[in-house]
Formats: sequence, C-alpha cells, structure tokens
Amino acid sequence: MVVEPPVVEIHLPDHQILQGNAKNLDVLSLQFPVQGFDVILTSPPYWKRRDYEHDEQLGQEDTPDEYIEVLSDTVALWARWLAPHASVFINLADTHHNGFLVGTPILFELAMREKGWRVAHRIIWSKPSSVPTASPRRLASRHETVLQLVPPRKKATETYYFDRFALNDRIPEAEIGDVWHVAPSRGQSGHVAPFPKELARRILLLACPERVCEQCGKPHQRQVEPSPALNPNRKQARRAIELFQEHNLTEDHLAAIRAVGISDVGMGKKLQNGSGKNSPRVQQLADEAKQALGGYFREFTFALKQHVGWESCGCSETTRPGWLLDPFAGSNTSLLAARELGFRAVGVDLTPHPL
Ligand SMILES: C[S@@+](CC[C@H](N)C(=O)[O-])C[C@H]1O[C@@H](n2cnc3c(N)ncnc32)[C@H](O)[C@@H]1O
Repeated sequence: MVVEPPVVEIHLPDHQILQGNAKNLDVLSLQFPVQGFDVILTSPPYWKRRDYEHDEQLGQEDTPDEYIEVLSDTVALWARWLAPHASVFINLADTHHNGFLVGTPILFELAMREKGWRVAHRIIWSKPSSVPTASPRRLASRHETVLQLVPPRKKATETYYFDRFALNDRIPEAEIGDVWHVAPSRGQSGHVAPFPKELARRILLLACPERVCEQCGKPHQRQVEPSPALNPNRKQARRAIELFQEHNLTEDHLAAIRAVGISDVGMGKKLQNGSGKNSPRVQQLADEAKQALGGYFREFTFALKQHVGWESCGCSETTRPGWLLDPFAGSNTSLLAARELGFRAVGVDLTPHPL
C-alpha cells in the first residue's frame, strides 16, 4: 500500500542534551523522549588518545583489552534503548602502542560478534590529509572505521532500516560504496572536529527513518521506481544524452533499450510481446540505438530511481521523524547533522556542551 501520510507536528523539542555516563544509560531513561531510538550514532573516545579528566570517562583503561571489554559491554547494553528496526554506528580509529597497531576496530568488532551482534557494514572513512607522523617507520594514518552493528534479535532474519535511495539522491557521486572520502572538518571551536558532520549526515540519511508510525513505532518504507531520467551526476550519462540527441533517437528507442538491456523482468515484460521475448520491432529499435550510442548504450539501462511514496504499516496515518541517540555526544556533531536533516536527537556526555 503506497500512502503519503502527513507528518504530524509534535510540540516537543527536537533535541535534548543530557549529562550522564554512556556506560549506564538506565539512570537517564526516564528523561528519554522515546523508549526505542531509531538509530545510535557515536564516536567514542579512542584508547589513550585524549584524557577528558573525568573519573568515569572511557578510553583511559590500562590495556587495549580492557578498553575493548568496557566499550563492547557498554555498546551491548544500548540494545535496550533501540527500536526493533534500529542499528548502531560506531566510529573507531586504531592506536599504535609500543610501535604496533592495537587493532581496536577489529578487536571491537570481534567482541561484538561474540555477544551475538551482527555487522551490517564496515565503512572506511578515508581522509584526504592527516597530521604528518614523526616516526620514520610509520605511514600517516588516513582512515578510520565506521561499523554498523545490529543487536541480537528474536528472529535472525529481522532486518534493520536502511534507505540507500536517501543517500544516493543527495550525494553528488554516482553510487556511493563503503569507502567514504570525507575531509576532517573544523568544529565550532575552530579545532579539527573528531567526527565530521558530513559523516553523520550520510549515516542518518541511510539509517534514520524519515517517518515512524506514532502508533506501532514501525518506520514507513520508501517506495522507489525506475524513472525515465538519467543520473546527471554521471559524466558518462551526460555524454550518453548528447549522443542520443545527436542521433535523433526517439522515446520508442529509449523504451526498446530498456526492454532489451534492463535486467528488471517486470520492466522488460511491459514491452515484450507476451512470450517473454522482445518483438522484432523492439529488437530492431534497440539495435539502432546500440549503433548510435556504442558503449554509452548501457547508461540508459541504469534507470535512475525516483521516490514515488511511502509504504505504511497500515495502522496509523500519523508519523514522526526518527530519533537519534549519541551517548558520547562531545561537541554535538551528530545532533547538529540530525537537526539539519529534520530528525530528532538525544545527546549524552559526561561533560555536555550546549547545542
Ligand atoms: C571523541 S569525543 C566525541 C566526539 C564527538 N563525535 C564530537 O563530534 O565531538 C568523546 C566524548 O565522550 C565523552 N565521554 C568520555 N567518557 C564518557 C562516558 N563514560 N560517558 C559519556 N561520555 C563520555 C567525552 O566527554 C567527550 O566529549
């Protein structure tokens, strides 16, 4: 069922910043605006990188093993505050110790797997530049890891909310993969921010639902269909359009290209002659187009997707935007990104900063 329900204005603040310990969110739970957050996104302190001078801080454990144990126990407890469709994104960098890498991201990932969590994505955040390293025996580190983790659920098949369309529609790259080239940005204080807003923005677009049912708490699912347009962000697509026009190809040629070239059976069948095969006329038009376009023919087979509506759970017409939780909110990068995208957010920190 495709419906377009109105987003209801709720008169609640769109964000909350709470003082507390990420290791023990229970004591804050009465203040949480929702029982199940739609996504957690956070950048915890890395092991021995920076001393926040607080007795309860994470990151100053004596050994890397102890750090991994505390961090993985902490994250595992967050499952209690997640909606059934939610996932957790954690940004981690590795640290050198006694001249060698500790292996923080991989050790943390393995610890979470041991606890029954599943890894949906291991995104590499690639940085175009970094602080030069003083050691002649070491390359400057230019990447960090962002893990998307899904808690153990009753049914192993239960999935997590994911909207690739929302991301691809807004990012001026053809089709985004799991290596993200994002420059570190400057925080409000002018220092290099530990976590750029662009990373948070991408994660929220992918995993924070735009519409969650007020009644049952399920997210509505975006409905997309192939559109007749090509992706103008692709250089090859722009050239393909030029060739199409130069050779005076027609709408019928376009339909034939898509009937022949598209792997989507439903779309192909619309133009086929009932036997599951393309008619000689369609084949002839497709051949003409192939001649005119050469290698650019295939551009027309990657139909751009267009948003056509939302599939609702069927129980309610009223929805709210997704809620983010960041238990190590720091300078509130993720909260700012959430607010700009129209989501709602709760930040927790031992020493919270106002937004
Ligand atoms: C790496 S920073 C967060 C970076 C953040 N993404 C940003 O954009 O600023 C880590 C934050 O975790 C906080 N912190 C450290 N231990 C904590 C704990 N046990 N509970 C909550 N916050 C903690 C620190 O105060 C610091 O603000």
